[in-house]
Amino acid sequence: MNKIDVLLGLQWGDEGKGKVVDALTQHYNVVARFQGGANAGHSLEFNGIKHVLHLIPSGIFHPKTINIIGNGVVLDPAILVQEISELEQMGVDATKNLHISKKAHLILPTHRALDAALEQAKGDNKIGSTLKGIGPTYTDKTARNGLRVGDILRPDFDARYKQLRQKHLDTIAQLNGPVAPTQADEDAWMRAIDKLRSYTLIDSEYAIDQHLSDGQRVLAEGAQGSLLDIDFGSYPFVTSSNTVCAGACTGMGIAPGRIGEVYGIFKAYCTRVGAGPFPTELFDSTGEQLRTIGAEFGATTGRPRRCGWLDLVALRYAIMVNGVTQLIMTKADVLDTFASIKVATAYRVDGQLTNQIPYNTDARIEPVYQEFAGWQTDITSIRCESDLPQRLLDYVRFIEEQTGVPVRIISVGPDRNATIMRG
Ligand code: GDP
Ligand code: IMO
Ligand code: MG
Repeated sequence: MNKIDVLLGLQWGDEGKGKVVDALTQHYNVVARFQGGANAGHSLEFNGIKHVLHLIPSGIFHPKTINIIGNGVVLDPAILVQEISELEQMGVDATKNLHISKKAHLILPTHRALDAALEQAKGDNKIGSTLKGIGPTYTDKTARNGLRVGDILRPDFDARYKQLRQKHLDTIAQLNGPVAPTQADEDAWMRAIDKLRSYTLIDSEYAIDQHLSDGQRVLAEGAQGSLLDIDFGSYPFVTSSNTVCAGACTGMGIAPGRIGEVYGIFKAYCTRVGAGPFPTELFDSTGEQLRTIGAEFGATTGRPRRCGWLDLVALRYAIMVNGVTQLIMTKADVLDTFASIKVATAYRVDGQLTNQIPYNTDARIEPVYQEFAGWQTDITSIRCESDLPQRLLDYVRFIEEQTGVPVRIISVGPDRNATIMRG
């Protein structure tokens, strides 16, 4: 029986998952999201058109591919309907091939307001949340208060909605938080619920089992990145789901033994949006150069991304917790003009050399760098490995030696075609 391949981010998100999933979809029959929600912003580009997806899997532009929103996702119907209508304007009927798990939890307008209220209450310790209601919705899920997509088909849905909404409003009032959702927001949400009733709602665990039994190829698309994982990220500066490979099992209902390839995707440098440790962060003109050339501004919030050098301590950690079998390196082209490129190979913490990420998020980490001469060649139109500059290949070989995992794909631009598959 076929296995499910998983593609997930190895850094703090925005590694280029959307671009690469879209580029790989031609080899798959099904693409599935398994965690997170519209905090994600996955960009993809082809035929000169750029699109940012938040909830819909990045296989949606391939007309024959089934796209599944798995049970582990938290779903805001208002954002989903908006996203579907944007796709419609581009001539894509997303509802045709979109299947949504009945067990996915619903994000209510009051979850979003609660997110803002809780973040505000944190004062100086803000996470830098995207404020899409992700944390409060997963909180209700684990507290067993949540509403699920399948509940919209039940006759008591309205009553249950009102009950949960009131509970949220009471908490927001206690927090003296920002204003509750507007009537217009709530009306839009209710209209979106009506539309959601007409979409294909499934038991995703059975559906995926059937797809695999039928010999179909399934690709799971991670959101966020491993260093934002609720357990293994720099807690509390994390998102509220398991972004690592294990999350694909619980977020779609598949057994661990059915995981096939684990594609780990990373940028040739590092970025982070929001608060939390970032040992290789650059505060100088080099960081600014990465942000400008790499267009490092959030796809969901537009916030400038913090930028820094590649961190192999963090990368090796992410590879370990995910069981990565193949690496994908993106945005290599962003380094094209750099005379020298640094990579952190170890940390010095309180004078001690270490290969491990310290437990304390306030530990003072001094990265130990290895420096490489830059290739100083425009690689954006290269499509074949043998045409890549030797210095870039040396950089890649060093990463492979340091991680023990082959780099199978090198991405040299945002377009679907700017993707070099290595032999
Ligand atoms: P995701 O969240 O992992 O899907 O990544 P985002 O879409 O949030 O951010 C990645 C950004 O880099 C997007 O603007 C992509 O269009 C862009 N991108 C992806 N791959 C490459 C690449 O190889 N080179 C360049 N220059 N841009 C890329
Ligand atoms: P994609 O899928 C980058 C970050 C937020 C914040 C923290 C918690 O596009 O890679 P949340 O909204 O989950 O409460 O925010 O996580 N974050 C992301 N950063 N890419 C993402 O998704 C992110 N999703 C959440 O900036 O620091
Ligand atoms: Mg993103």
